[in-house]
Amino acid sequence: MSGKSIHGEWSSRWIFIMAATGSAVGLGNIWKFPYIAGENGGGAFVLVYLLCIAAIGIPIMMAEVMLGRRGRQSPVYTMKSLAKEAGAGKNWKYLGWMGMLAGFLILSYYSVIAGWALGYTVRSASGMFEGQTADGIVSLFSEFISDPEKLLAWHTIFMVMTIVVVARGVKQGLEKAVRFLMPALFVLLLVLLGYSMNTGHFAEGVSFLFTPDFSKLTADGVLVAMGHAFFTLSLGMGAIMVYGSYLPKDTPIAKTTITIAVADTLVALLAGLVIFPIVFANGLEPGSGPGLVFVSLPIAFGQMPGGIIFGTLFFILLVFAAWTSAISLIEPTVTWLVEKKGMKRLYAAVTMGVLTWLLGIATILSFNHWAFEFSFWGLTKENGIFDMLDVLTSNIMLPLGGLFIALFAGWVMKREHAKDELAMKRMLWFQLWLFLVRFVAPVAVLVVFLNAFNVFDRVG
Ligand code: PHE
Repeated sequence: MSGKSIHGEWSSRWIFIMAATGSAVGLGNIWKFPYIAGENGGGAFVLVYLLCIAAIGIPIMMAEVMLGRRGRQSPVYTMKSLAKEAGAGKNWKYLGWMGMLAGFLILSYYSVIAGWALGYTVRSASGMFEGQTADGIVSLFSEFISDPEKLLAWHTIFMVMTIVVVARGVKQGLEKAVRFLMPALFVLLLVLLGYSMNTGHFAEGVSFLFTPDFSKLTADGVLVAMGHAFFTLSLGMGAIMVYGSYLPKDTPIAKTTITIAVADTLVALLAGLVIFPIVFANGLEPGSGPGLVFVSLPIAFGQMPGGIIFGTLFFILLVFAAWTSAISLIEPTVTWLVEKKGMKRLYAAVTMGVLTWLLGIATILSFNHWAFEFSFWGLTKENGIFDMLDVLTSNIMLPLGGLFIALFAGWVMKREHAKDELAMKRMLWFQLWLFLVRFVAPVAVLVVFLNAFNVFDRVG
């Protein structure tokens, strides 16, 4: 297979890096990573997460980009034609199906949280955080999420933004958006880091994040850490596969992938380093859940000089980071609708956008009228359907998708084809990659799954 995707091609390797980084860096890094690290006790969780990025995430990401570039179509058709090429069964296309479903489910709640960021942009700009106490900021947040109509309005705006870019197509729509915004977000985080260093609790934050205390880590915590490695790198649901399908043939996949994974990890760690010192300085609870960023940072913005400007800028950039991720969540399904149904991009984007928007309402209500507790394995969650969707997608569907991608790339695809696509300079690197996707990644995913289902306890 060769040639280009009918949906277009990136104009350079850098644009791919930007777009894939845009997909990877998002709410996962800034909103989700800190709160799940907080819920799971910090250090040990962070260590497992980093290990998962290196040993599972990076090799699977290379595999996903590679499959995409070789298949050049939506994940469903890519998997179908690659399976045919390898003489394997037709069922591999269900990997594409599961990915589309995961993307749909994730985007439904992702858009709601991105809506929070939109709402917080306006709140910041209007000076609402100025002179507030920590308690005041906490109640501002509870008041915000208990108003479904407001949340619906912001969710709607964000969904429309996503549809508009997706409808315009990858090149016009995406390339422009990511070029400046990602670097700007990074710089702003550095500025905020300066603030956190002066809270007097920086050391406490650093030690919370980086001193592993394994007594705080449960089997579920390990599953959440692994699931998040997939989530944060946008792996296991076809987003990176479609982006890979727009990648020019001569791009070195390994180098490119590592750049993206490192950038993504840096942003998450930086966000943690900014947030936890503020959390400790203000007596907040690290395990307080999805509101963590929306409480801790506004406290800081309310106190620092120029807080209105920094706060507004920060939330604008967070919205952009979420936007470039949302686009990639919907892109696999849109390309599929275009290929399979011959739909125009515009209609495909609107159809998917509307369906996702509807499901998003369940998440909105999870924070107010429909809030209920539910436990999965050992962990108790408070926000019903939202938490269920998150657990189902991040902790089950994405790792499962990644597992099958690794198995396909490592065991099903012809070795010469993989070698040819990856075009590594040294044989040794190729062999290392092959070892990781054949053995390490699949076994690790399985062990973490079984462990979280308590299988080992029952046997032991
Ligand atoms: N990686 C994105 C984030 O961290 C979320 C995402 C998941 C995007 C899966 C695409 C696919 O916010």
